[in-house]
Amino acid sequence: MIFSRISGTGGHLPGNPISNEELIAGKGLDSSDEWIRVRTGIAYRHLANAGTATSDLALEAASRALVAAGRNSDDIDLIIVATTTPDMIFPSTAAILQKKLLVTNACPAFDVQAVCSGFVYALSIADKFIRSGEHRCALVVGAEVFSKILDWSDRTSCVLFGDGAGAVILEASDEPGILASVLHSDGSHSGILSAPGCLSGGTILGDPYLRMDGQAVFKLAVNSASNVADEVLSKAGLSQADLDLLIPHQANIRIIQAVAKRLALSDSQFVVTVSEQGNTSAASVPLALDAAIRDGRLREGMLAMMIGVGGGFTWGANLIKL
Ligand code: UT7
Repeated sequence: MIFSRISGTGGHLPGNPISNEELIAGKGLDSSDEWIRVRTGIAYRHLANAGTATSDLALEAASRALVAAGRNSDDIDLIIVATTTPDMIFPSTAAILQKKLLVTNACPAFDVQAVCSGFVYALSIADKFIRSGEHRCALVVGAEVFSKILDWSDRTSCVLFGDGAGAVILEASDEPGILASVLHSDGSHSGILSAPGCLSGGTILGDPYLRMDGQAVFKLAVNSASNVADEVLSKAGLSQADLDLLIPHQANIRIIQAVAKRLALSDSQFVVTVSEQGNTSAASVPLALDAAIRDGRLREGMLAMMIGVGGGFTWGANLIKL
């Protein structure tokens, strides 16, 4: 039987960290460091320069993941990029990344759009491709220049997000590495978190910026993340006690703590990067995974759960054994 297993991870954050005070002063916001820290847990975020594209961040993260896996570009036979901020309407960011990585074997490359759940979706898709036997080495990336869609005059949303990319190499294996995945979407909640504008006839129609009903998103995020955690454990025939580490989407420390409490996890059993990175949407889960592996919290043989929640409304989880 063929399974898939993560063989390497990489992450990349553009430029220097920007503190709450620097952001407030730079953008002229009516806010405070205290408000942002207390309500969200965020102290810093990274923001890409105007000329930096999502594929540039993805390239850095993917290159690091390839080194960690001991692989070359041409070993890759599938590329999936989860992003809400693609370089352009088309071609896909995955195809642009394929060109930048000099992958010349004509392997399939495509984007996945599930906003902050994007990486969890993409990993589940790559796992299924590999278990089909048709692919052996997938590059799965979550990458965003989310600052492109922020309205800097809307203090209720612009202080929350940052830019970045995380990547994994997922390879065919005799031993299971992705133990179970669960994906969900409920489009009836599409209005609570969206960037509703579109391009038509050379003009932007509607509002191109991110809009959010923060409290509605907060409640739905806590409930859906907690429920999907139970669901993915039950699908794998495991229980909360088997779990070593939770790697949740990094939207707000209060959401993360609420989910960790539901799973009866101690403080050392969940990864928090939101304080240093803000919410990097599809990049947040693979960046947190990479951080946990590189600092030694997640080691071979350990069981970790990744959870995504975001616009759509989408949510999902992957249970992985390293
Ligand atoms: O990937 C998923 C993406 N999104 C999320 O996960 C967001 C989930 N939601 C949240 O994290 C929280 O709802 C927020 C952090 C967005 C807001 O926290 P809250 O505790 O729900 O605050 P609130 O919306 O109830 O606002 C409280 C007050 C309001 O003032 P009034 O009406 O009480 O006078 C806001 O206008 O805080 C005000 N406020 C701010 N004040 C200073 C809102 N944003 C700011 C700000 N600085 N940046």
